[in-house]
Amino acid sequence: MSTAESTFSKGLEGVVAAQTEMSFINGTEGVLEYVGIAIGDLASKSSFEETVFLLWNKRLPTAAELEAFNAELREDYTMTDALKERIKACPVDAEPMHVIRTMISSMAMDDPSPNENSVEVARHKALNILATAPAIVAAFDRHRRGLDIVDPDPSLSFAANFLYMLNGEKPTDAMVRAFDICMITHADHGLNNSTFAARVVISTLSDMYSAITAAVGSLRGPLHGGANEGVMKMLNQISDVDSVESHVMNMIANKERIMGFGHRVYKAKDPRAAELMTLAKQLAEDTGNMDLYNKSHAIELVMEREYAAKGIYPNVDFYSATTYHCIGLKLDLFTPMFVLARIAGWAGHVIEQLGDNRLYRPTTDYVGQHAVPYVAIKDR
Ligand code: CMC
Repeated sequence: MSTAESTFSKGLEGVVAAQTEMSFINGTEGVLEYVGIAIGDLASKSSFEETVFLLWNKRLPTAAELEAFNAELREDYTMTDALKERIKACPVDAEPMHVIRTMISSMAMDDPSPNENSVEVARHKALNILATAPAIVAAFDRHRRGLDIVDPDPSLSFAANFLYMLNGEKPTDAMVRAFDICMITHADHGLNNSTFAARVVISTLSDMYSAITAAVGSLRGPLHGGANEGVMKMLNQISDVDSVESHVMNMIANKERIMGFGHRVYKAKDPRAAELMTLAKQLAEDTGNMDLYNKSHAIELVMEREYAAKGIYPNVDFYSATTYHCIGLKLDLFTPMFVLARIAGWAGHVIEQLGDNRLYRPTTDYVGQHAVPYVAIKDR
């Protein structure tokens, strides 16, 4: 519906609702840049920490700035005792996404000034949430396995520290680098649904915790970040590479959505999927998981034949499933990994929004009835 004042766009498709200096996407050419730098360059040359600095400061750091940023981040690796106790109180069968959403929300209660929204204070809160989130996921996973929580090691990078806290042993350099690339490629992505949720919440001048909590809630949906778990479930249902063709064709015939394919913005291959495909293949070779990679690649070929003409290609979630499996992560930790990385983007957008805020308040197109007589309850 259009009126002189407004146009209805279902799902807000094509609506420009924010300005950002963080990421640029060209969906027809399959381009993604963070602050003007191609995602491929960042994936091959940068670190997650440097990428976060880039997104939050709109420029690459000097060596001294990166060192200072790393030190600040590492100081915040440790959870408060109160947070640890809350994690230990979580039911062991809770879904990790519900746990991380709830624990990030609960962090507001440990903050003496949770509602302060000056850009400088918001940046500190962002850094704290970013630094603490890996400890939350690792601690909950160990708690549900009946293991002691492993305290963070501030001598380790973000990626290495997470894998160390999760497994209780120092990860190999190859695993750390692979995980770091996953974090870089998932860090920011325009006005995706969860980032929009974060911006909407902070636009009321609520608080950083509420905004990030809302974003986590959005991300877990299967049409968004939850798709990586959907991809792994599909891969698990397919016994071998020879069964891929019939499995995918059956799904298509039943009008099922193939998780990890399609995107609102990309009508070409998502450049993050290209990066993660290379990574998944290397990791699969190194970890004896080539059967999984081969199944994934075979799905991509069937989908290319059936759907490329419609502009449906693999998205970031498709090869991240194989990658996370090869890193040794359990299926229900895949979407939490997206959270760990995307906190960088959400927080950066919250800070951008705070710097130039206007309340988000779109309108609805009322399609109901008018002038309906009120009928007394006894007469209905
Ligand atoms: N499998 C089968 N058909 C699909 C798929 C898919 N994965 N994606 C889109 N389509 C079809 C859809 O059925 C529709 O067909 P028709 O025009 O005949 O009715 C057409 O393509 C347009 O679909 P839409 O849902 O209106 O388009 P959208 O822009 O809202 O879709 C999407 C974006 C991501 C919701 C969708 O592609 C999808 O459901 N993909 C699977 C879930 C997924 O992988 N999500 C992760 C997205 S990327 C990372 C992230 O943001 O988290």
